[in-house]
Amino acid sequence: MSASQTKRTLVTAALPYSNGRLHVGHIAGAFLPADIYVRFLRLKGVETRFVCGSDDHGVAIMLTAEKEGRTPKETALYYSQKQKASFDGLNIKFDVYGGTSRTANHYKTSQDFFTRVYEKGYFEKQSTRQFFDASKDMFLPDRYVTGTCAYCKTPDQNGDQCENCGKMLDVDSLLDARSVMSKTPATVKESAHWFLDLSRFEKEVATWLESSTLREHTRNYVSGLLSTGLVKRAMTRDLTWGIPVPLQDPDAKGKVLYVWFDAPIGYISNTKELCEMRGESEEKYADWWKSDDCDVFHFIGEDNTIFHCVIWIAMLSAEGSFKLPKGVIVNQFLNIQFPGQDQEKISKSRGTAVWIEDYIASGANSDVLRFYLTSIAPERARTVYKPEDLVQRNNSELANVLGNFVHRIVSFTHKYFGPQVPEFPAAKVNDTDRAFEKRLLETHEKLTQHLEGFAFKQGLETIMEFCRDANKYVDEKAPWTTRKTDMELTAVSLAYGLRAIRYLSVALAPYMPDTAAKISKTLCIDTANQRWDDALKALPAGSPLAVPEILFSKIEDKEEVPTSA
Ligand code: MF3
Ligand code: ZN
Repeated sequence: MSASQTKRTLVTAALPYSNGRLHVGHIAGAFLPADIYVRFLRLKGVETRFVCGSDDHGVAIMLTAEKEGRTPKETALYYSQKQKASFDGLNIKFDVYGGTSRTANHYKTSQDFFTRVYEKGYFEKQSTRQFFDASKDMFLPDRYVTGTCAYCKTPDQNGDQCENCGKMLDVDSLLDARSVMSKTPATVKESAHWFLDLSRFEKEVATWLESSTLREHTRNYVSGLLSTGLVKRAMTRDLTWGIPVPLQDPDAKGKVLYVWFDAPIGYISNTKELCEMRGESEEKYADWWKSDDCDVFHFIGEDNTIFHCVIWIAMLSAEGSFKLPKGVIVNQFLNIQFPGQDQEKISKSRGTAVWIEDYIASGANSDVLRFYLTSIAPERARTVYKPEDLVQRNNSELANVLGNFVHRIVSFTHKYFGPQVPEFPAAKVNDTDRAFEKRLLETHEKLTQHLEGFAFKQGLETIMEFCRDANKYVDEKAPWTTRKTDMELTAVSLAYGLRAIRYLSVALAPYMPDTAAKISKTLCIDTANQRWDDALKALPAGSPLAVPEILFSKIEDKEEVPTSA
């Protein structure tokens, strides 16, 4: 799946619903891998834009708004700002972070998109039967009705799916339905909606599937969907919160676009916002969305797969003027396991989550979380977040292996050669040194391949293996012994050690930007125009060294980082 990326690239991360705080599962799922990839592309010199923003529409936001006594708009703004602060705290740096309810531009872009699809004749208007609350004069979305499952007779079920038997429920199979709003019995009323028949785009989706960059599980899942055939999906809803359906038709009155219709269009409208922010003409966005010189990659969690790999592809094919994404990078879910408890799903309602806000508030190092979440990244299968495991890896890998290597080499150099890279005679370089240098070059090649192939976890493992070997190299060369007998030999060991540190200052930059910056500072390197292959350049003898900072402190008391919800 590796494609050497040289074109301009637009990277998006799934727009999170602005109705709650972010937890470690969100970050591992879409945002962190996207941020790592963007940082890598930029080091490679690829012109890149990183686009995200909040997904403000839909029933989920309305329900939270009601529960918390705010309007949906206030709710969206409130959580969107909180989420943005969490991203900032983890150094996940989008170029733009808008909200789908906050810009006229998003309304217009979504409505224009809908109109184009309508004018091309791809929408079918159909009457549907929906639950209705006569006392409130409103249609009731699935989650606003409760009743008894007609199949297994379990009471208190919502209008979409029975929690007991798993069957899908509708107006005919939810018995004694009541409105959650008014507690009065729900009636059934007809309502017209605009459907997109996804089966008309089976060929486009199949062709895209073959040529796009996807992980194996994603490809299999989407082929499965195609093999059972695609169906019609309503692209409009009877809700008061959302983007008005832009049709003159009287049946469109009071209706809004389906949230999964307007949300991915948010990628486009946020790109327009970015162009405006940068003082470019709004039309510049087309360079990213309509030009063959640009590739678009979406990073998402597994529950978003059907929306990006089927519905969005069908929408784009129907509209016709945008390029299809080059790839969709999907992560599986992250489960969680608290000390002494069973593994479980991350869930807000059950209180089984580690919140990013809490992690940041604890004062813990953001790179430690970035490191841990990448080392357990659910790239191929679901994995488990264990708070104790984070502490253990911080101590054993970050502090003992990486931090220790950097610190011992730099401080030893300071002590015996002063604050600079030591000079050494070439004749003193031996096979151990050459083998270590070879190891470094191989590491770079492997790491580059992993990053190009979206194998972020393996890339990080490659760096950590190199760090372990770097410690072995120093142990074998034992500069603390050789310095008593041969300063030239000692200088070689330290210069090679410093070369490895120089390497790490670049190699770690996509994964742990603060740590990489600290290392660069120790080496007195200006990172402003740094490039990926600078990683291989040795620092010339005499280059200045600053006093090393402690990169990672050991976490002695587990309570220092959030270990429970
Ligand atoms: N809001 C959705 C979620 O949190 C993701 C939307 S992605 C987009 O699951 F493409 F629609 F923007
Ligand atoms: Zn049931």
